[in-house]
Amino acid sequence: MSQGQSRRERVVEGMAIWGSYYRENIDEFVTDYLGFTFLKWFQLALLVMMNCCRTFVLIAARGIGKSFLVAIFACVRCILYPGTQVVITSGTRGQAINVLEKIQVQLMRDSTNLRNEIDLEKSKFSGQDAKVLFKNGSYIKVVTANDYARSNRANILIVDEFRMLRKDTVDTVLKKFLTSRRMPAYSELTDAERKAEYAKEPNESFYLSSA
Ligand SMILES: Nc1ncnc2c1ncn2[C@@H]1O[C@H](COP(=O)(O)OP(=O)(O)OP(=O)(O)O)[C@@H](O)[C@H]1O
Ligand SMILES: [Mg+2]
Repeated sequence: MSQGQSRRERVVEGMAIWGSYYRENIDEFVTDYLGFTFLKWFQLALLVMMNCCRTFVLIAARGIGKSFLVAIFACVRCILYPGTQVVITSGTRGQAINVLEKIQVQLMRDSTNLRNEIDLEKSKFSGQDAKVLFKNGSYIKVVTANDYARSNRANILIVDEFRMLRKDTVDTVLKKFLTSRRMPAYSELTDAERKAEYAKEPNESFYLSSA
């Protein structure tokens, strides 16, 4: 960092450096920033794998923490990538809301930093329009997986208990959510540079099911 920078510029530059470091090392973000030191090594490894795959399928034993892990992952992405739209869906609304409950009941209880990131006044953890809003413009929304869910858009689609859904619903309704990208303003870039940046960030989908 150069001498002539104001304090604000130094803070912004520091944030940019740490932001990109944590985007590449979300296992460290989860322990350092969110303070979840209780995760097992295989759970951290799964988080890292989720972060580098466009499509991720996890079939694992009951109660091993699939929904819990995906709740953590959704929060991480919402914090590190402002303006991210996450849609959580499942065969029944209850199962999808279950993921939001984990955020409210367990994750927010254990992490002051996570509580500070979430806009509590606008978030709703139950009911028809259940949604967690972050102060940086990201959100996590619950959508029931049926024909009426059309018109929703997401950068990250999470399908919990996907084997309970019809393939037809996944293909014709849910996958179509992923048609718009996250598009930050990047005011200092040219149009071509902006396009190149957007191309680096494909939309992603996650499918979970118990074995
Ligand atoms: N490393 C951990 N330390 C402490 N508790 C944990 C850890 N991992 C998971 N848990 C707890 O295990 C609980 C069960 O996890 P979860 O409901 O996500 O499992 P699941 O795989 O989705 O199960 P199901 O197949 O029934 O849907 C979580 O609510 C969480 O409290
Ligand atoms: Mg589950």
